[in-house]
Amino acid sequence: DNPEIAILKDYHREAAELYHHILVNTQLGEEALEYLHHRGLTDELIAEFQIGYAPANKLLLPFFDEHQPDYQKLRKSGLFVERQDGQLSDRFRSRVMFPIRNAAGQVIAFSGRLLQKNDQQPKYLNSPETEIFNKRDVLFNFDKAKNSVRTEKSLVLFEGFMDVLAAYRAGVKNGVASMGTSLTEQQVYTLARVSKNVSLCYDGDEPGQKATKRALELLAATGRFNLSVISLPEKLDPDEYVGKYGAEKFVTHVHDSLESELAFYLRYYQQGRNLDNENDQLAYIEDVLKKIAQSNDAIERDLYLNRLAQRFQLDKLTLENQLKELRATGA
Ligand code: UTP
Ligand code: MN
Ligand code: MN
Ligand code: MN
Ligand code: MN
Repeated sequence: DNPEIAILKDYHREAAELYHHILVNTQLGEEALEYLHHRGLTDELIAEFQIGYAPANKLLLPFFDEHQPDYQKLRKSGLFVERQDGQLSDRFRSRVMFPIRNAAGQVIAFSGRLLQKNDQQPKYLNSPETEIFNKRDVLFNFDKAKNSVRTEKSLVLFEGFMDVLAAYRAGVKNGVASMGTSLTEQQVYTLARVSKNVSLCYDGDEPGQKATKRALELLAATGRFNLSVISLPEKLDPDEYVGKYGAEKFVTHVHDSLESELAFYLRYYQQGRNLDNENDQLAYIEDVLKKIAQSNDAIERDLYLNRLAQRFQLDKLTLENQLKELRATGA
């Protein structure tokens, strides 16, 4: 690293240590620690991920001040906001702090969660883009997950930090999450470097299902992955699922309830449609056929064509012709 980058990383390493210390060793962190325990995080996990707490009052500036900081660099770190008079002030206040690490495990940013949701502020606040943090590149827990991929032979994509942590606690250590944005090309490229098998385990609610579809399309377009979907019932997210059904059941679910891409689309395209209604039925069949046409596996195509034919009592030959046409035009 050049000296400039090294200093920014130093600030982040020191800030992570300080936030963690505040959480686990001081009275300022008591409420937040209680909150995390209540959400099922153990002290070991809190230590392993170096989770911390940013108190309501000034913390970082007085701390860095003692170390004779370079204000120009502090400004660039993203750890502060600049007030009108030019003074720096801690960006993160009254938030549980999740250090965000690069692939080498160095802290390059933070995401801070409010203890209670409110309408004035976002639930999670991320560091701004800096010289060391480009949120489109980063996957939370990638530094650890890339090692688990060797034994698990797959990688799991989650929506949120708490989902990655809940899964980790349950023993599913090959999970990562994007930074509150939808999956990007850069992240897909990063994934491709470490794993061919990728499972999507997003929230069971509607936004989660939409995000699953978008991510599947982006991943499938590269032609480099074996993709599967882990769907959760009752609109639960993975963290809520672990809370409700326990770690053991979650692990079983992750291993045994893998849906293929096409199985996901069969379900997905049913949403908001009444398949007893003829128009809805036709639209559904068209959507599904398009997806079947995109499969490069002849046996899979045949399997799903049979299902469609049976389910809607259609002539398979008609479907086959339609499929040929779709494949020829690449629609
Ligand atoms: P969710 O709303 O599903 O949050 O957003 P969550 O992960 O379940 O969080 P908890 O359980 O309430 O703590 C999914 C992800 O979207 C990003 C975060 O990365 C979050 O984990 N997000 C959400 C933000 O960046 N800002 C927000 O205000 C909310
Ligand atoms: Mn406790
Ligand atoms: Mn969600
Ligand atoms: Mn969620
Ligand atoms: Mn959640």
